[in-house]
Amino acid sequence: MRFSQRVQSLPPYLFAGIERQIAERRAAGVDVISLGIGDPDLPTPSHIVEALAEAAADPATHQYPSNQGEPAFREAVAGFYFTRFGVELDPASEIVPLLGAKEGIAHVGLALLDQCDVALAADPGYPVYVTGPMLADGTAVSLPLVRELGFQPDLEAVEPSVLAKARMMFVSYPNNPTGAVIEDDFFARLVAFAAENDLVVVHDNAYADITYDGYVAPSFLETPGARDVGVEMFSLSKSYNMTGWRSGAMVGNRDLVDAYWRLKTNMDSGMFGAVQRASVAALSGPQHCVREMCEVYQRRRDLLVEVLRTVGMHVEPPKGTIYLWAPVPDGHTSASFTAQVLDQADVVITPGAAYGAGGEGYVRLSLTVPDERLREAVQRIEERVRI
Ligand SMILES: Cc1ncc(COP(=O)(O)O)c(C=O)c1O
Repeated sequence: MRFSQRVQSLPPYLFAGIERQIAERRAAGVDVISLGIGDPDLPTPSHIVEALAEAAADPATHQYPSNQGEPAFREAVAGFYFTRFGVELDPASEIVPLLGAKEGIAHVGLALLDQCDVALAADPGYPVYVTGPMLADGTAVSLPLVRELGFQPDLEAVEPSVLAKARMMFVSYPNNPTGAVIEDDFFARLVAFAAENDLVVVHDNAYADITYDGYVAPSFLETPGARDVGVEMFSLSKSYNMTGWRSGAMVGNRDLVDAYWRLKTNMDSGMFGAVQRASVAALSGPQHCVREMCEVYQRRRDLLVEVLRTVGMHVEPPKGTIYLWAPVPDGHTSASFTAQVLDQADVVITPGAAYGAGGEGYVRLSLTVPDERLREAVQRIEERVRI
């Protein structure tokens, strides 16, 4: 069988490789601890599970859902955005449900890019910022996140020749993989930059509520002018431990929301009605479960930061996300250090270079394993890894 150039040029999906490594070692009887993948270990809060069970028992949810989403789903997203961010969204025209933010990130390029058009992709960044544009026959060009700028991009440094072809850009804060958050006027500068250069901003807000030390993350849409130039990809995955449920929404610019909806009607048949009703329960119900979960992650974060110090790795505790972004010890690449930790400690961590060239020199450690396993991982690193 001959496959399209498009598919042949896709890099292997990062986590497929990690999952294979884990499976091989486990098959050989090795007790592997994975700090590789950012998939919450804690269960979905019970009131959301109960809402799903009740909705799944209602035959009205068993038929094709509407691609536009149930009005109650869109109203719940709008209600959440207003309460949480002070952002008013029109449920009829500024919200479209997504099967997780990943769907929107992977496919929005199909609505914005023609052949050879450029998408600027935060680097290091979620790998789909690169592969999504490739699926649309566009080109992703690295938008380096600069450590000295708090892992923000230097917008002035984008080459004019690249800007001439650029139609869109992907950014995300709280940021995977660096854990960086926005505490200055970056979003205002981004809006001005996008307006000046006729670019669409796609802000990936997958970690909106996974924050620590009292920090509260803004929505991109809080910034004046943001919805004229872009959209936000919102996700229920991390805030409510719902990664398996596939629930999120694209919100913001109504023309892009409409174009994306038209595209979507040709690609999928929407989100299971029962998941939509459970999402309403998540967004409109009690939110203390989110803070409690963040307390768990914060405790794990502090534990990991501390032990990494004892092995000579200095990491700033991040104010957001479920990751630590750690510089590798001298003499290592991100891949060589990852391999050493796996070999010597049977602990999986992710090489920074897997998130783009800008991730070289770092590794990412995820906080999504139970406390005892995290302690065990930490102990193994402390005892067995010789740097
Ligand atoms: C930065 C970022 N964006 C998007 C996603 C995907 O989110 P969802 O589960 O809503 O598709 C992830 C998942 O890890 C992520 O890290």
